[in-house]
Amino acid sequence: MEPVTLTTERLVLRAPAETDAEAIERACQDPEIPRWTTVPSPYTREHAEGYIRLIGEWWADGSQAIWCAYRDEELVASIGLHHIVTHPSGGHAELGYWVAEPARGNGYITEAAAAVVDWGFRELGLARIRWQAVVGNVPSARTARALGFRYEGLQRQALTSERGRDDGWMAGLLSTDDRSPVDWPVLS
Ligand SMILES: CC(C)(COP(=O)(O)OP(=O)(O)OC[C@H]1O[C@@H](n2cnc3c(N)ncnc32)[C@H](O)[C@@H]1OP(=O)(O)O)[C@@H](O)C(=O)NCCC(=O)NCCS
Repeated sequence: MEPVTLTTERLVLRAPAETDAEAIERACQDPEIPRWTTVPSPYTREHAEGYIRLIGEWWADGSQAIWCAYRDEELVASIGLHHIVTHPSGGHAELGYWVAEPARGNGYITEAAAAVVDWGFRELGLARIRWQAVVGNVPSARTARALGFRYEGLQRQALTSERGRDDGWMAGLLSTDDRSPVDWPVLS
């Protein structure tokens, strides 16, 4: 696949270029990112450069579609559809994201993710998008709920990272689902 640029009301989502390494490195110094994701810690310039290179390879082989989101050229988030699997009856993929700490709380990720989810269903022909998070990641769960994801359960020790294994909250969104948020039993 060729990398695709998506535009929302406030954001431009595009595959990062080499010149974005410094901003990605800076964003990933925030301990909340490695705490809840598979982003390594400590995070170096080499990690950022490797991530940018891999994003190019993943777009090319169609295995993952990852963007950085910018507001007025300022990096605010990274978001992607990971582990894309195609299937004659509709494929599936996993939604993942982080927001740079200074940009949090502005609704950027729900805005960016809505565009990514639409694109995945429309252009990749996905039937299902999965979300999973380390148990207790309430901001991420609220984001997924706001997008219309349905809570599907807790999988014990299902998630692996540099931290070891963690229990995972699981949720899913089908292309046929109404996107109106529904209650999640783990969120009050
Ligand atoms: C999860 C994350 C992307 C949310 O980013 P954000 O900029 O706060 O998101 P938004 O402003 O779009 O808000 C999304 C939802 O999270 C809620 N939220 C944000 N921060 C919160 C907090 N500290 N506590 C509880 N809820 C929070 C918002 O209220 C909103 O939910 P609502 O629509 O029900 O009100 C951000 O906290 C982050 O990057 N965390 C570290 C990396 C991470 O956890 N990634 C996800 C791994 S699964």
